Amino acid sequence: MDILELMKKRRSIRKYTDEQITREEMDKILEAGVFAPSAGDGQRRFLVGIRNAEFTRKIGKLNYLPFDRSKLLGGHVSEEQPSVIDDPSIKDGFYGAPSVVAVFGQEDFPFSIADAFCAAENIVLMASNMGLASCIISRGEETFVTEEGQKLLQEWKVPENYICSAFVILGHIAGDYPKVKPRRKESFLVIE
Ligand SMILES: Cc1cc2nc3c(=O)[nH]c(=O)nc-3n(C[C@H](O)[C@H](O)[C@H](O)COP(=O)(O)O)c2cc1C
Repeated sequence: MDILELMKKRRSIRKYTDEQITREEMDKILEAGVFAPSAGDGQRRFLVGIRNAEFTRKIGKLNYLPFDRSKLLGGHVSEEQPSVIDDPSIKDGFYGAPSVVAVFGQEDFPFSIADAFCAAENIVLMASNMGLASCIISRGEETFVTEEGQKLLQEWKVPENYICSAFVILGHIAGDYPKVKPRRKESFLVIE
């Protein structure tokens, strides 16, 4: 698919079937993530791909815990693919997706978050290109503040000075694929 067409087609999906992604798909997605640009080619990132539905749901619950409705920046995200902002009955930050990639970056590095979201963008585009559903999820650092979260970081051997900046949930869409979201007019200009 033409890359611009792919970018226009990609949507954040929050309704998933139970079908798991394959190991080959996860490997390709992680490879796409590490081939993202990084500030100064520092490659200060560590990606953890979790291809286990039960485990992913457990982390999705930890991700929802710090969600604070009183601090929302916007009130509406999507009717077709409602988020935790739209629907207070959703208590799972990962929306029941069977897989997730956690993107970690160096804590004291000024471009850590930018690097992480470059990797996340590569991942969602790769996933879309493979016909998989995905969505970028925030509250990375807060997800691991609990004792349970800290234990996971040790188990995964995440370097001590690394923090989670983003997640990308992955799986197969349940129901219809959402329509393209219209873009604001005058979002860019060309100066010649
Ligand atoms: C930095 C960033 C953080 C995001 N965090 C979340 C999140 O925590 N939960 C969620 O459901 N969607 C999250 N999203 C997805 C956005 O809601 C989504 O990209 C936006 O509504 C536009 O919809 P689209 O991706 O389908 O075009 C995030 C996206 C970005 C870029």
